[in-house]
Amino acid sequence: MPALRHLEHVERASALRLTFGDNAPCLFPLVWLRDNCASGFHPLTHERTFDLLSLPDDPALDDCQWDEHGLRLVWSHDGQVSQFSAEWLWDHRPGVQRHDAAQVPQRLWRVEDLVDGPSRHEATAVMQSDSALLAFLQALAKDGLAVVHGLVGDGQASVAVAERIGFLRRTNFGLTFEVVNMPDPNNLAYTSLALPLHTDLPNQEMPPGLQFLHCIANEASGGDSVFADGFAIARDLMAEHPEDFAVLSQVSVPFRFFDREYDIRIRRPVFTLDPSGRLTDLRFNAHITDLIDLPGDVAGAWYRAYRRLMRMTRSPEYRLTFKMRSGEMVAFDNRRVLHGRTEFDPSSGKRHLHGCYVDRGEFESRLRMLQGG
Ligand code: OGA
Ligand code: ZN
Repeated sequence: MPALRHLEHVERASALRLTFGDNAPCLFPLVWLRDNCASGFHPLTHERTFDLLSLPDDPALDDCQWDEHGLRLVWSHDGQVSQFSAEWLWDHRPGVQRHDAAQVPQRLWRVEDLVDGPSRHEATAVMQSDSALLAFLQALAKDGLAVVHGLVGDGQASVAVAERIGFLRRTNFGLTFEVVNMPDPNNLAYTSLALPLHTDLPNQEMPPGLQFLHCIANEASGGDSVFADGFAIARDLMAEHPEDFAVLSQVSVPFRFFDREYDIRIRRPVFTLDPSGRLTDLRFNAHITDLIDLPGDVAGAWYRAYRRLMRMTRSPEYRLTFKMRSGEMVAFDNRRVLHGRTEFDPSSGKRHLHGCYVDRGEFESRLRMLQGG
């Protein structure tokens, strides 16, 4: 870190201005220094115990000194001493976000970027070695999609991989689910019909983050898997038709799943952006989008935008297609990567996928913990 070159008490701004090396001055508000002082955190839980309202509106200092240990402040209102090392102040200077090992840069892909298919990881290695697990999770964070192969036995094997990451996300379909052709289905996935590209459970207040589909058997004719990077499609839509991107990120539409036991609904836009405008979640699922109840003038613009997005999902440049083999599991970010399948003929052979979900929070936590937090 650069050495401290200048320290100034800016009383008007109730802040200290510190200049490290040749860098631009950093403004440390006094309220910030007291709120983030180590004395205000529990030594074991690391949680903040300091009561921010114990500070006066305009906190003042009786003393402010810089020595070989760093910065030493004495607060006027209670006489408390706060000590900050130079290194800590540089690392935590206001406006600089903490390093986050879970923030793996995303590669938004088209099929031409994945000529060798998704990144592949061997199940025993992922189960036994933390570095193999980390490589799998980093690939999954980068592309939103990765394959684990060499799973032996039934769905327990893929659940064990998912649980290496975090606890499972239970939904109305259970802790895990069996994707098979059923006589009395409550979901199109449980038929032999084609499934157009979609994200699962957009009707949930928070749709599951990571999805795991483990192929137990795929002997029927048809039933090929299709995946597309929804964030790449969204990026291209924004570049080519920003007005359509805006409609799909601003207009909420109803999503609904209902059967004999549940009626789970939410109104949300197709694209969810964070406060800085970055796309974080995609909700795209024609089969559980509810009746569109938008006012007529808004509905016209929404349908134009939505149909354009839907047309893009049919374009081969985005559609990665392959047939899953028994013992393979595809892991993907359900709020980024769209998935679907072609129709299959259930009389021609068995098709059985075993599925489960883990949320993004647990996934990102594991990514951090594998890299030392
Ligand atoms: C699902 C699903 C895909 C498939 O179960 O949500 O999309 O290949 N399944 O059966
Ligand atoms: Zn699905």
